[in-house]
Amino acid sequence: MLSVLVLQLWSSDHGHVIEACKDSLKKLQLDYLDLFLVHIPIATKHTGIGTTDSALGDDGVLDIDTTISLETTWHDMEKLVSMGLVRSIGISNYDVFLTRDCLAYSKIKPAVNQIETHPYFQRDSLVKFCQKHGICVTAHTPLGGATANAEWFGTVSCLDDPVLKDVAEKYKQTVAQIVLRWGIQRNTVVIPKTSKPERLEENFQVFDFQLSKEDMEVIKSMERNYRTHQTAKFWGIELYA
Ligand SMILES: NC(=O)c1ccc[n+]([C@@H]2O[C@H](COP(=O)([O-])OP(=O)(O)OC[C@H]3O[C@@H](n4cnc5c(N)ncnc54)[C@H](OP(=O)(O)O)[C@@H]3O)[C@@H](O)[C@H]2O)c1
Repeated sequence: MLSVLVLQLWSSDHGHVIEACKDSLKKLQLDYLDLFLVHIPIATKHTGIGTTDSALGDDGVLDIDTTISLETTWHDMEKLVSMGLVRSIGISNYDVFLTRDCLAYSKIKPAVNQIETHPYFQRDSLVKFCQKHGICVTAHTPLGGATANAEWFGTVSCLDDPVLKDVAEKYKQTVAQIVLRWGIQRNTVVIPKTSKPERLEENFQVFDFQLSKEDMEVIKSMERNYRTHQTAKFWGIELYA
């Protein structure tokens, strides 16, 4: 099995890309990373290298840094490649506007855009735009966050959807396997997370069956434009507004 080490630049380190990457490498005792992503297209108040704190202002709203452009951040990401500290660089949570902009200013094109996408939040236009321009789409939260996001954000999990349950029954698979297979068949990379070894095993068993064109269409029709990550809950501001 091929394993790839992917790390992300935290928002408070946009002005400290090289130091942040070196700090991660030191902690992991590695010479280089396979892939390093800009985690969220926003710079926030620097809280010290290696911290993932999100400083809030007195008003309870995320302390956003308006002095560092994403272009500056990206050029520092490119330096990491020339320094041999990372093999590939990418972006995460970039929409069509920001991805297009990144393509315009980049000398090294982003290899990946890691975005939230699952049956309730399909983002077909963004997926197609990235794929058309040679950017691999990685689906984060590919199961819709399931119980974790239901607990944190009160969101509805697509794993409980009766339509998906019917499809799962038809293929004699679990709903999670159907959702992951759907993600693979739309040419996205799926990165489900689980704390349970038996589910880890289950989530790998998605390469010995194929969803029919009709069932891909059934899942396509389930789109709700439903983002589970609600930044206002933690940061007092909806960043995707
Ligand atoms: N770039 C970004 O901004 C960003 C944002 C969010 C997430 N991510 C990344 O995306 C990956 C996945 O994200 P995620 O954990 O938020 O979402 P997820 O993989 O869609 O959902 C995880 C949830 O699904 C449950 N689960 C896993 N396998 C299951 C199965 N076979 N059947 C039923 N439930 C199952 C897990 O519970 P149990 O643990 O109980 O199995 C957990 O509650 C992570 O690597 C994360 O770092 C990236």
